[in-house]
This record gives sequence, structure tokens and C-alpha cells, in this order.
Amino acid sequence: MPESTSRPRVTVPDVIARKNHHLPLTMITAYDATFAKIVDESGVDMILVGDSVGSVVQGVANTIPVTLEEMEYHVRLVARANPRALIIGDLPFGSYQVNTEQAVRSAIRLVKAGAAAVKLEGGVTMQDAIAAISRVDIPVMGHIGLTPQSYHRMGGHRVQGRAEGRDPGGKERLLEDAHSVEQAGAFAVVIEGVPRELAREITQKISIPTIGIGAGPDCDGQVLVLHDILGLSPNNLKFTRKYANVRELSIQACSEFVHEVRARQWPDDDHSFH
Ligand code: KIV
Repeated sequence: MPESTSRPRVTVPDVIARKNHHLPLTMITAYDATFAKIVDESGVDMILVGDSVGSVVQGVANTIPVTLEEMEYHVRLVARANPRALIIGDLPFGSYQVNTEQAVRSAIRLVKAGAAAVKLEGGVTMQDAIAAISRVDIPVMGHIGLTPQSYHRMGGHRVQGRAEGRDPGGKERLLEDAHSVEQAGAFAVVIEGVPRELAREITQKISIPTIGIGAGPDCDGQVLVLHDILGLSPNNLKFTRKYANVRELSIQACSEFVHEVRARQWPDDDHSFH
């Protein structure tokens, strides 16, 4: 059942208040106005203009090549849909790691394009960037665990937090990452690709909402990539779920068009001008 578009706008304080709430938070990605409108009608709490745009729209193997200019463009498209959901703009690789000034400048660009908040990847090492961006009143969502921008360090998209220890990706390090993100002033944090027991422990130990993907059911909320929900990709990843098979429906619809044109059934006289 579509949610009314007259529902109240979701704000950052609304999200913060949903920590330990009986109603889990929901976040879905979108990259353009058409899909942002569709996603918003579902009643979702947050729309993430994710750098996953690289893999699901641009056809690149990981998120590393995505640029700040591209993210600005996609945030602008989503903002034009005027969703009631909170728009989070993802800071791409290379737009915030150099120093805090770069991080603040990049965050400002996404907010000017229409985001209400930004997301960035990393824990302990990104504490200064999160604090600097938060100081200029731009809310920051952290992202720890399987951080796709760390593709080369991880050796691919690999589940994190299985090994003990304080090295990047180790269990104790992930707990430190979560505390760092919280202490730096993030209003929420995505936990991606970690054992559910660890995601539960982090969720219990920090005061900000955790949004899981591939992190089990015990987080304060869940996020999925729109193209996975719709079944637009041929992949079957363990941590995603196809709620529809739009890829198959799309191939069917396009094939029917091709067939009807070739059979001279389309366009018919009813769809012609006289
Ligand atoms: O870019 C993205 O879509 C993300 C989500 C998978 C959390 O970071």
C-alpha cells in the first residue's frame, strides 16, 4: 500500500529518536528523481544517494571511481523529487580523506545539491572528518565494517569482524570504530558485512542508531540498494533480497515491443495521428 506523500518530512532528530525503538528504521538507495519518488511512496525513512551508483548505474566494478561531481549530480536529481524521506548524500572516495577542510568542503557541496546529511566510510581514522563536518551543522552518518571504498585493503568485498584484533577489519577494531564514530558526533552509523553477533554488540553499546546491511536483524534499522530490492541485477547476494523481479519484467516488456514492431503490430491506428 503506497504511503501518502503528505506524511511529515523525516528529520535527523526523528532518526536519532528511533534508537532502541520498536519500529526499525528503513533506508533505500535512489539515484534519480523517478526512482526517488517511487521509493518515497513506500514510506521509507531515509533515501541514500549512495556511491553504489558506481556499480548499479555506471557499470564499474566498485565504488572507487565515483567522483564528487557525479554524487552532486545524483543528489540534485533525487532532491528534485522532493521526498518526505531524509536525503543522505554519500561522500565518494577521495572527497574527504585528504584533510578535514576537504571533508567539510565536499560535505557542503552535497548539502547545497539537496542532501540533508552526508555519509562517509571509516571509524577511528575518520573521527576528525566526522567532527569537522558535524561542527558546521551538517549531520554525518558513519559507515563501518565492510566499507566498499576500502576495496583494495580488504582484497575485495569481504565480510569484516570475523578475526579477533585491532587491525583494520578486526573485531575489537570494529568496536573502536563504532565508538569513534559516535564520539565524533555522527547521528547514525551504517554497519555493513559483519557477523550478526558483532552488529548486535555494537548496537547495544553505542547510543546512536545502527543501520545494518549484511549485519543481521538486531540493528536499529536496515538499508538495501534499490536495484537489489527490485531484482534489477542478475546477482544473488546472500545479504540482499529481491522483493520483485523487475529485470525479467523489463526484458519481457522490451521483447514484446521488439516483436510487435517487427510484426507490424505497433503502432496501430488507435495510437496514430490523423
Ligand atoms: O553506497 C551505498 O549504497 C551504500 C549502502 C550499501 C549502505 O553505502
